[in-house]
Amino acid sequence: MESPVPSLSRRSREIPAFLAMDVLDRARALERQGRRIIHLEVGDPDFPTPPPIVEAGRRALAEGHTHYTESMGIRPLREAIARHYHRRYGVDVSPERVLVTSGTSPALAMVMQAILDPGDEALVPDPGYACYANFVRAAGGVPVAVDAGPASGYRLTVEALEAARTPRTRAVLVNSPSNPTGVVYGPEALQPLVEWAERHGIWLISDEIYHGLSETGPEPSALEYGPRAVVVDGCSKRYAMTGWRLGWCVAPVELVRPLQKLQQNLMVCAPAASQAAAVAALTEGEPYVAAMARAYAERRRILTRGLEALGLPVAGRPQGAFYVLADVRRITSDSVGLAFELLERTGVALTPGVDFGQRGEGHLRLSCAASPQAIQEGLRLLGEWLRQRGERPAAG
Ligand SMILES: Cc1ncc(COP(=O)(O)O)c(C=O)c1O
Repeated sequence: MESPVPSLSRRSREIPAFLAMDVLDRARALERQGRRIIHLEVGDPDFPTPPPIVEAGRRALAEGHTHYTESMGIRPLREAIARHYHRRYGVDVSPERVLVTSGTSPALAMVMQAILDPGDEALVPDPGYACYANFVRAAGGVPVAVDAGPASGYRLTVEALEAARTPRTRAVLVNSPSNPTGVVYGPEALQPLVEWAERHGIWLISDEIYHGLSETGPEPSALEYGPRAVVVDGCSKRYAMTGWRLGWCVAPVELVRPLQKLQQNLMVCAPAASQAAAVAALTEGEPYVAAMARAYAERRRILTRGLEALGLPVAGRPQGAFYVLADVRRITSDSVGLAFELLERTGVALTPGVDFGQRGEGHLRLSCAASPQAIQEGLRLLGEWLRQRGERPAAG
C-alpha cells in the first residue's frame, strides 16, 4: 500500500517566488552552460566589503568569537548603532532599543510576527520591495497594496494611506531610498506619513537599508519624526556586506521584549563574527560608503540616459539606492515573459517589474550594482535586440 504524502501548508504553497532570484537562478544555469551573462537583476553590490571590516571579522574568528552571543546582539555593536543615529540624524536612541539581527530580512519577519494577528492588514507601497507582502503573509496578515505610482512621484502619500485604511490596518511599510525606483523621500514626504501613523495608532516600519547611498545628501530617518516609528536597517547594501547577514531593528520600548523573545526562539542571535565586523563598518566605514555612493550615482546616470536613448522611459527620479525601473509598456505588458526572453536571447539578466506589485507590471528593474562596463554592455545588447525586433526609440 502506498503511504500518504505529508501535506504542505497553504502558506508555503501560496507564497510567490521572489522573481529576481528566479531570474538569477536561471542566469546561473545558463552560465554553467558556458553563456556570458550581464547581471543587472540582483541588488548585490559588486564592490568587495571594505578591508577594515573584513579584517575585524577575520580577527573575531581568530580570537574565537565563534559562538552564540546575547540574543539582542553584542553590547559594542548596539552602542555603535545608537551612536550612528545620534551622529547621522541627531536622534537619541538607547542601545536597549536596538535588536541586532541576521540581516534586515529577519528583522522585517520578526516585526511582522510581533505586530500582526491573522487577518490584520499591513499597507505596502506598490510598486515596492517584492518581499514586503510576503513578510506580512508569513505572519498571517493581509498585505494591502497602496498606490505609490507616478502621480505622487513614486512615493506613498497620506491621501493614499488614508484611502486604504480600515479598522484592521495595523502597519505601514515605507522604504526610502526605494527599491525598485531609487526615489528618495525628503522630510516633506516622510514626516507626514510618520505623523499619520502615530495619529491612528498604526505601526510605521521604515526600511532604511539604502540610507547613505543617495545623491540628495543625508536621507531623513523616521526616528526623527515619531517616537513609535520602527526602523529596520543593516549592513548589506551600504557596506557591501550582503553575505555577512547582519541587520538591526530600532524599536520603541513596548516592542523590544516581544522582538527579543521571537529572536531567542527563531534565530537565537546574529552571527558573532559578523557582529564584530559591523562594529568596524559603523565606526570606519563612512569613507568607503561615500565612494560607493558616488559610483552608484554615476551608474544611475548611465543607466537612465541609456534607457531613455532606447525609448524606454525611467519611472520617477532615481536619486538613491542602485535601481532604475524602466517602462517597457510600448513593447509588452508581460514583464516576466520579457525578462526571461531577454535573458535567453541577449544574456542580459533583469528583474520583471511585476515582482514589485501590479503597478510595476509593464516595467523592468535594472540594478546598477554592476560595473559601468557591464551596464554599457547590457544597454548595447538591449538596443541590438530592440533593433532586431524592429523597435525604434519612441519619438520625443
Ligand atoms: C528594500 C529592501 N529591504 C530589505 C532587503 C533585504 O536585505 P538583507 O540582506 O539585509 O536581508 C532588501 C534586499 O534587496 C531590500 O531591497
